[in-house]
Amino acid sequence: MSNSARPMKSFKSSGLKGEITIPGDKSISHRSIMLGSLAVGRTTVKGLLEGEDVLSTAAAFRAMGATIEKHDDGSWTVDGVGLGGLQEPEDVLDMGNSGTSARLILGIMASHNISACLTGDGSLRKRPMKRVTDPLGAMGAEFHCRSGERLPLYVKGAEDVLPIEYELPMASAQVKSAVLLAGLNARGKTTVIENKPTRDHTERMLTHFGGEIAVEPMENGGNRITVTGQPELVAADLIVPSDPSSSAFPMVAALLTEGSEIKMPNIGLNETRTGLFATLQEMGGDVVIENERIEGGEPVGDITVRSSKLKGIVVPPERAPSMIDEYPVLAVAAAFAEGKTEMRGVEELRVKESDRLSAVVAGLRANGVEVEEGEDWMVVHGTGGNIPGGGMVECFHDHRMAMSFLVMGLVSEQPVTVEDGSPIETSFPIFHDLMTGLGAKIEDA
Ligand code: S3P
Repeated sequence: MSNSARPMKSFKSSGLKGEITIPGDKSISHRSIMLGSLAVGRTTVKGLLEGEDVLSTAAAFRAMGATIEKHDDGSWTVDGVGLGGLQEPEDVLDMGNSGTSARLILGIMASHNISACLTGDGSLRKRPMKRVTDPLGAMGAEFHCRSGERLPLYVKGAEDVLPIEYELPMASAQVKSAVLLAGLNARGKTTVIENKPTRDHTERMLTHFGGEIAVEPMENGGNRITVTGQPELVAADLIVPSDPSSSAFPMVAALLTEGSEIKMPNIGLNETRTGLFATLQEMGGDVVIENERIEGGEPVGDITVRSSKLKGIVVPPERAPSMIDEYPVLAVAAAFAEGKTEMRGVEELRVKESDRLSAVVAGLRANGVEVEEGEDWMVVHGTGGNIPGGGMVECFHDHRMAMSFLVMGLVSEQPVTVEDGSPIETSFPIFHDLMTGLGAKIEDA
């Protein structure tokens, strides 16, 4: 990410119209490079997200010996080194803003006989790594971290990885994936127990690459996931669906602005990701999903969104993992809705790219919206459509803060300024172009 801040501003808009292609899913893009690098042979990836986070993952795997290239037709190829075949990187690996890169790569490094040093930007260096160093340490890897188990850290992978059974202390797909990826190179079976289902792209993609993975649903709604170590992973082509988390921004923009109708084809509909769509529909949003189909092992469909009058609801806490990245933009929709919207069981928002609970609360208040906040909850008092706006929003290196509040400025009385829109490059580099193409007024401030 560039070091200079990019202030951006959005203005009241209406009549958003058109069909847009949302870029590839970030979670799936990361995993395609990781598993492609661990497989034998050439994996071709279509629709890879070319955001800074995914490029950080690609740079890390190049530094460990994989060949990763973009081709003229827009596709990418990954020539893997085979499981266990990664080389020690010569220099410190910089994961930029990307928690997924850092945590999943630590899982992979933990089970390779290499040493490495990892760092990241100001946001990532604040984020907790103990959640992965604990289980990976139990599997035999060694870590030396900055105080509070933060990056930069040094990892020495285990020579002989111990398979473990691990119950996740928090609902985190990153931690689940780190343990499963480490277990890939262990002799025997590694099991992760998740009491709340989280995104399952690692499990699906491992199966796609010929891995052996068993998912047993538990009575409490969670899963017991077991990976058998040391499979022969074989290169497999992939098509990355459009990112449902990125689609959330134009979706909310179209719902809130008057006279809008937009179409977004090929959006990922994996049920571990679609909590926001259900929530917006419950709020009265006209969000229509059609042509549901499976592509490359993942469900996808086409979505049409039209302007709607929204009402506040209680978001079921058990839905949180399936929409964990969408709370900032949901808070914007809630600010516009009639009545209050309660979001509970969202403690994980405190350890995202920013402390998203306090950042969102500050952003809403700066724009005249009433909101209450607790350790793991937030209640937004909807204005029923009259958001004063006019505020300056601090984004704390958080792409989703910047995009959410730029959406708010499209429907508030006064324009909204975000102090730094540059992190949008991490996940949705064409956000500005797509939004202005639909008719949204967003510009550099
Ligand atoms: C991700 C998992 C989630 C999510 C992040 C991407 C992944 O994080 O917030 O944007 O690709 O596995 P947690 O595992 O910390 O919940």
